[in-house]
Amino acid sequence: MKRIVVLGSTGSIGVQTLDVVRAFPGEFEVVGLAAGNNVELLNQQIQEFRPRYACCLAPMDPMPQGVKFLPMTEMVCLSEMDLVMVATTGSVGLIPTLNALKSGKRVALSNKEPIVMAGSIIKDFEGRFGGKVLPVDSEPSAIWQCLRGEENDIRRLLITASGGPFRSTPLEELDQVSPAQALKHPTWQMGQKITIDSATLMNKAFEVIESHWLFGVPWDQIEVVVHPQSTIHSMVEFADGSVKAQMGPPDMRLPIQYALFYPQRLPNDMIPRLDTSITHSLTFQPLEEDRYPCFGLAIEAGRQGGSCPTVLSAADEVAVHAFLDHKIGFTGIPRLVERVLSEHQPGPARDPEELLEVDRWATARAIELVPH
Ligand SMILES: NC(=O)c1ccc[n+]([C@@H]2O[C@H](COP(=O)([O-])OP(=O)(O)OC[C@H]3O[C@@H](n4cnc5c(N)ncnc54)[C@H](OP(=O)(O)O)[C@@H]3O)[C@@H](O)[C@H]2O)c1
Repeated sequence: MKRIVVLGSTGSIGVQTLDVVRAFPGEFEVVGLAAGNNVELLNQQIQEFRPRYACCLAPMDPMPQGVKFLPMTEMVCLSEMDLVMVATTGSVGLIPTLNALKSGKRVALSNKEPIVMAGSIIKDFEGRFGGKVLPVDSEPSAIWQCLRGEENDIRRLLITASGGPFRSTPLEELDQVSPAQALKHPTWQMGQKITIDSATLMNKAFEVIESHWLFGVPWDQIEVVVHPQSTIHSMVEFADGSVKAQMGPPDMRLPIQYALFYPQRLPNDMIPRLDTSITHSLTFQPLEEDRYPCFGLAIEAGRQGGSCPTVLSAADEVAVHAFLDHKIGFTGIPRLVERVLSEHQPGPARDPEELLEVDRWATARAIELVPH
C-alpha cells in the first residue's frame, strides 16, 4: 500500500493522478490532498478518497468531517506518507518539494518550475537527505525510462517537441494569434499555462533545464528536435551511437503511473495503446529557433544559472496570463520576459527563500510592465 499526498489535486495532472489511484483499488491510501481555489472539486475528491488532511487556498468552511487542515509544507513531511505528487504550478511547489526531500520522501515532480528555479538545491537535498525525485513530465520521464538498466556514457539527450500550434504559421502573423488558437495544442490536453508555454516553446526549454539537472547532462549534449506526432517522448544517444527512444500515446497518465509504481510497470486499460493497425509516420525536423524566441532566452537563462531561471519563470508566468487576458499579444510574451531578465542583477541560487524573494521581485516587475 502506497501512502500518497497529491498537491494540486484539482488541476490537470492532479486529476489524472487520482485517475491512476482510482484504477488500482487497494494499492494506494490517499493521506492528503491540496488545491488552490477549486473548493467544489476538492470536496468531491475528499468524499471519494477520504484523506486525513487537506489544504486549500480558498476557505473551506466547514472542513469536511474527519479531515484536518494542514499546509502543504507540513503535509509533505508526515511520517504516515511515503510519496508526494507535486502537481501545483509555478513556484508554489518549491518549498513543499524541498521539505519532502529533507524528510527523505519520494517526490513525483510534475511541477517543473521548482527544478527550473532551483535545480542545484533540489539535487543537493536529494543527495543529502535520501529523498528521491521521480520525473513525471513526459520528456524527462522518457529519458528516465531510456536510461533504465544503462550504465553507459550518454552522448546526447534528444528531447522531442511537437512544435505547438504555430509550427507552420507565417512569422508575420504570430503577433495576431489569439489565446483560443494558442490553447489548441495539436497533440496534448494540458492546463492553460503549460499549453501556452508549449506554443512559445518556453516549455521545451524548461524541459531542457529540467533534464540538465535531473540527469546531470551538460547543456551542449542536450538537443531539441521537432517531432509533430508526439509519439516519441524523447531519446537518448549513447557513446556507441545507439539511440533509445521511449514511445507511447500522448497521455500523461502513463508517465504519472510510471512514477507512482516505479520500478513496476502495471497494465491499466484506461491508458490508450499505440494503434498499429493504422499507418503512422514518425518525422523529425530541426528546431527553427527564430520562430520561438522564448526558447533561446530560456536556455540562456538556464546556462547562466543562479537567480536567472527564477526570473525567467516568474516573468513568463505573468506574461502568459497577460496574453490569456488579451493584455499583450503572443509575441509580447518573449518581449516581456526579456525586459525583466535584462533588469535583473543576477545572484547565486543558494537559498530557496532568496529565490522566492527574486520570484516576487520578477513577478511584481513583470506586472508593472504589462499595459493596463
Ligand atoms: N498538464 C500537463 O499535461 C502537464 C504535463 C507535464 C508537466 N506539467 C506541469 O505540471 C504542473 C501542473 O500543471 P497542470 O497543467 O496540472 O496545471 P493546472 O491544471 O493549472 O493545475 C494546477 C493545480 O495547482 C493548484 N494550485 C495553484 N496555485 C496553488 C496554490 N497557491 N496553492 C495550492 N494549490 C495551488 C491548482 O488549484 P485550483 O485549480 O484548485 O485553483 C491546481 O490544482 C505544471 O508545473 C506543469 O508545467 C503539466
